Amino acid sequence: MSTRDGTVAAALDHGRALILGAGSLSALRAVEPEAFGKRSELAAITATLRDQDPQSRREIGRALQQARASLERLFSERVGAFEAEESRSRAQAERLDLSEAALHFSSATGALATWTPSPAPRGHLHLVTQVRQELEDIFISMGFEVAEGPEAEDDWHNFEALNMPPHHPARAMFDTFYLKTAKPESVVLRTHTSPVQVRVMESRPPPIYVVAPGRCYRRDTPDATHLPVFHQLEALVVDEGISMSHLAGTLEAFASAFFGPGRHARLRPSFFPFTEPSAEFDVTCWVCGGHGCRTCGGSGWVELGGCGMVDPDVFRAVGVDSERYTGFAWGLGIDRLAAARTGLADLRDLLDNDVRFSSQF
Ligand code: FA5
Repeated sequence: MSTRDGTVAAALDHGRALILGAGSLSALRAVEPEAFGKRSELAAITATLRDQDPQSRREIGRALQQARASLERLFSERVGAFEAEESRSRAQAERLDLSEAALHFSSATGALATWTPSPAPRGHLHLVTQVRQELEDIFISMGFEVAEGPEAEDDWHNFEALNMPPHHPARAMFDTFYLKTAKPESVVLRTHTSPVQVRVMESRPPPIYVVAPGRCYRRDTPDATHLPVFHQLEALVVDEGISMSHLAGTLEAFASAFFGPGRHARLRPSFFPFTEPSAEFDVTCWVCGGHGCRTCGGSGWVELGGCGMVDPDVFRAVGVDSERYTGFAWGLGIDRLAAARTGLADLRDLLDNDVRFSSQF
């Protein structure tokens, strides 16, 4: 009995070794006949059963059955493992990065012809966004924080707190779009980023050193230097002992960081209801170099922004002690800054969405 059991056990071991030694699904299927099929040692022993006495036949038969069942179980476990591995690697190989896939349609039929994962050219940030980020970097490196405010603004923040009560004539220069809300003419698409000054001063006490970039809206007819939707960078500094020379010095430091040497800038007296005194910040025209052209309207200079010392009336509106604190503010046009840096003659190119234009920057 022991030799017969030993024979079945040896056949079982042999079958196991064959199954476990197969390194792939096809190799596994190839060893199946020899492991427990027609050509196996188990089959050979089975063929000898008829020569055994009935008692031995029963015992060996039972042992053969158990051995075959055990090998079949092992075989199907290995098949399952190989199949799972194969489908994992097929999925990996066929995985598509849809962001990089290009769909090609047959021009004749309009049908999807091929679907080729291709190294599609990546876009980049719009020139105005690049400049906006660069401005933020420059002012952060100078110790400013970046603040934000809503583009749909209420009348108080856009006008009243900035010393422009209803019917004030200065509102006309910021003519804008009102939103249809319950109270007519109470919510505007902000005309400048100056309402962020008000929001910052309402939210915290001085000292304040912030810049606020963002989109603005005006009913301006588009031309070389005007867009109905444009961008400004507001700055607000409120602290003890701040004077106009701090304003001029900060603007100068900014201009040399942004433009490098060689660009002439000037402060020209002006008027804003929310600053006193007020000025405009101009640079020599980047298209004609100061001789006069269509871009600068013949003057040789292009206005980049308005600025001035914060009017005490604004401090009163937001509850800042104007006896103790003084401050300066400005609003620079980001689109014009972008044009000045790149030599762009017409701001309307910024909105055309022409890749031949935007890919240059
Ligand atoms: C203002 O908007 C004031 N809020 C600026 C200010 C802030 C003054 C703080 C004092 C203190 P102004 O309307 O001049 O000012 O606009 C400022 C700049 O925004 C302009 O010099 C220009 O660069 C840009 N800008 C104004 N309107 C347009 C427009 N339609 N298209 C493109 N840029 C514009």
